[in-house]
Amino acid sequence: MNLLRTKPVEQSIEDTDEPGHKLRRELSALDLTVFGVGVVIGTGIFVLTGEAAGVEAGPAVALSFVVAGVACALAALCYAEFASTVPVAGSAYTFSYATLGEVFAWIIGWDLILELALGGATVASGWSTYFADLAKQAGITLPEAVYGEGHNLVAAAIVLALTGVICLGINVSARINAVIVAVKVAIVLLVIVAGLFFVKASNYSPFIPPAGSAGAKGPKPEPSLLQDIGLAPGGPFGIAGIFTAAALVFFAFIGFDIVATAAEETKEPQRDMPRGILGSLAICTVLYVAVSLVVTGMVKYDKVSVDAPLAEAFRSVGRPWIATTISIGALAGLTTVMMILMIGQSRVFFAMSRDRLLPPVFAQVSEKTGTPVRTTVTTGVVMAVMAALLPLEELAKLVNIGTLFAFIVVAIGVVILRRTRPDLERSFRTPLVPLVPILSVLASFYLMLNLTAQTWIRFFVWMALGLLVYWLYGARHSRLGTEGARTGPTSRETRSSGISG
Ligand code: ALA
Repeated sequence: MNLLRTKPVEQSIEDTDEPGHKLRRELSALDLTVFGVGVVIGTGIFVLTGEAAGVEAGPAVALSFVVAGVACALAALCYAEFASTVPVAGSAYTFSYATLGEVFAWIIGWDLILELALGGATVASGWSTYFADLAKQAGITLPEAVYGEGHNLVAAAIVLALTGVICLGINVSARINAVIVAVKVAIVLLVIVAGLFFVKASNYSPFIPPAGSAGAKGPKPEPSLLQDIGLAPGGPFGIAGIFTAAALVFFAFIGFDIVATAAEETKEPQRDMPRGILGSLAICTVLYVAVSLVVTGMVKYDKVSVDAPLAEAFRSVGRPWIATTISIGALAGLTTVMMILMIGQSRVFFAMSRDRLLPPVFAQVSEKTGTPVRTTVTTGVVMAVMAALLPLEELAKLVNIGTLFAFIVVAIGVVILRRTRPDLERSFRTPLVPLVPILSVLASFYLMLNLTAQTWIRFFVWMALGLLVYWLYGARHSRLGTEGARTGPTSRETRSSGISG
């Protein structure tokens, strides 16, 4: 059994035309950018900014957003080349199948569950917190039976409701997303513009609070792996805090890569994928840096709220109606984040089932709506159960490590595909290869090292479990393994990867 067999790019593209497995091409560059912004702006900026500023970086959290943004930009340049060259559902999974081989593709598909399903469940849990808070402000206390630790039925309900919407078709999802994104961006701009009037220069001093002073008044930050092994000074703030906060707020950027999972539903993917990926990332980076500067300018960093930093900043300056508007906007905004993470997850499952690394029954596309209804419903149910039962605050950092790992694999894949398939048409080329992919690998790995040792251990356990599942099912049923490569310049690819057919 050759686990390093690669799937020719031509075969991946040909598979997208198979009757019964064909997704509908309905998205434009603008749709993709709106899609990207819809999934990117969410819990990261509305919630995590508080922890990042309060216990990790202080006002220098704006620099953490820049650091995370630069790491993402390097990765985005690699994703843009791949998505325009291999415009097939499945994103990093499909890319790895074409470059590194089946077992790596499986690992990435399994890894993406962390980013997409676990990420979506985490956001659903954040959504339920905002929902409960707004209900309380309206005088309604949610009963303990439906909203509590380990039985969060509110989070599960929103996931299931969104599953229904997604089943209606990518076009419906894109339209709903567009409306909500407009609201969300308006709220973020409101924070920036209205907040500017309350910024006090004294709140920026010290801009980088002294190292080791974190935790003096509030919760102590957990040490990163780098700190554990003595390669970074302990106890954020200080310069080290900027980087641990960057690893945390990296969550805020997650999603631009999910634009790539919609490649197969894009009218002109070669032209529009790079625009959608890079465009949404650029817009969000600018907004994040501005929001974090405004919030830490309004409130002294050690007083920034950890639960709802943006809304609370306005409450603290006596503008409760702006705070309520922000909370409503955040609730709407988190809805599209969940929706698109779910779409991404269902497309990755779909691609894996089409390749028979998962049971092929999941690769059916509904004739009526053009969406993979079975994978969508399965994804929705799994995520609803996760959102209802799991201690997600504990697990949220797994989302970051999983995504960063996918970035590394994609960057390596760009270099490999340039070598193995220089002939492929690339409408977008990552600049300065191999320098940019190498920098992308280093930046992502560095951010991974800034996560905690416990996150690393959980990550390894998850991956080991994945390999077991692959060995038990995927390796034996793989379409490429049982039928061999059907198309493409198999001679060169086959030789280089050692496919035995
Ligand atoms: N980037 C998304 C968020 O911040 C996942 O919620």
